[in-house]
Amino acid sequence: AAEPDLAGRHVVVSAGGTREPLDPVRYLGNRSSGKQGYALARTAAARGARVTLIEANTHMADPAGCDVVHVGTAVQLREAVIKAAADADAVVMAAAVADFRPAAYASGKIKKKDGQEPAPIALVRNPDILAEISHERARADQVIVGFAAETDDVLANGRDKLRRKGCDLLVVNEVGERKTFGSEENEAVVLTADGGETPVPHGPKEALADTVWDLVAPRLG
Ligand code: C5P
Repeated sequence: AAEPDLAGRHVVVSAGGTREPLDPVRYLGNRSSGKQGYALARTAAARGARVTLIEANTHMADPAGCDVVHVGTAVQLREAVIKAAADADAVVMAAAVADFRPAAYASGKIKKKDGQEPAPIALVRNPDILAEISHERARADQVIVGFAAETDDVLANGRDKLRRKGCDLLVVNEVGERKTFGSEENEAVVLTADGGETPVPHGPKEALADTVWDLVAPRLG
């Protein structure tokens, strides 16, 4: 069994990908499976933590021993994260949050009409949850972890993102058409705000999750 080094701690993990509705049947979404977030939730529970898992559109069974909150959109995810983070020792934002959402929601299905050009879809920005909870911390001693999927200049972009978001750790992975999404495995580098850089070789998402908790545990207040 795992060391109970998170016993007595409350950790919050977000997982999955938000869907931003256009009308009752359509949405803008992404390919996040939620598997990395679920691995983080399971490993934290195995290490003794009380876990709140906030999931968006993963279609996976609730992991045993976790409090699970189900959300759909980025705005709903923000509300759930802020609420759960109020008394959390650590927050890990593994969810893929849509950067933009449709500016308008059509309450009836959008129809195509003969001979008519398609209407452009206007978008507005979604709140950046990770930046918000990092810059306005619910607790000064909270440890906040972000994820970043990059296609190029992975480390330089990761360092820059860590600074801009204001989180303590950033898990950076390289994505491409055949990499990471939906896979059982992952490969990443974990950057820390104090300049640290921990490479995690290609392997199960559980192994990356345990490395994240190994780095979070000694930083907890
Ligand atoms: O900016 P980018 O989407 O690359 O950042 C990824 C990280 O930021 C992830 O941890 C994700 O959960 C978080 N994020 C967020 N709110 C957004 C966009 C991303 O919390 N609107």
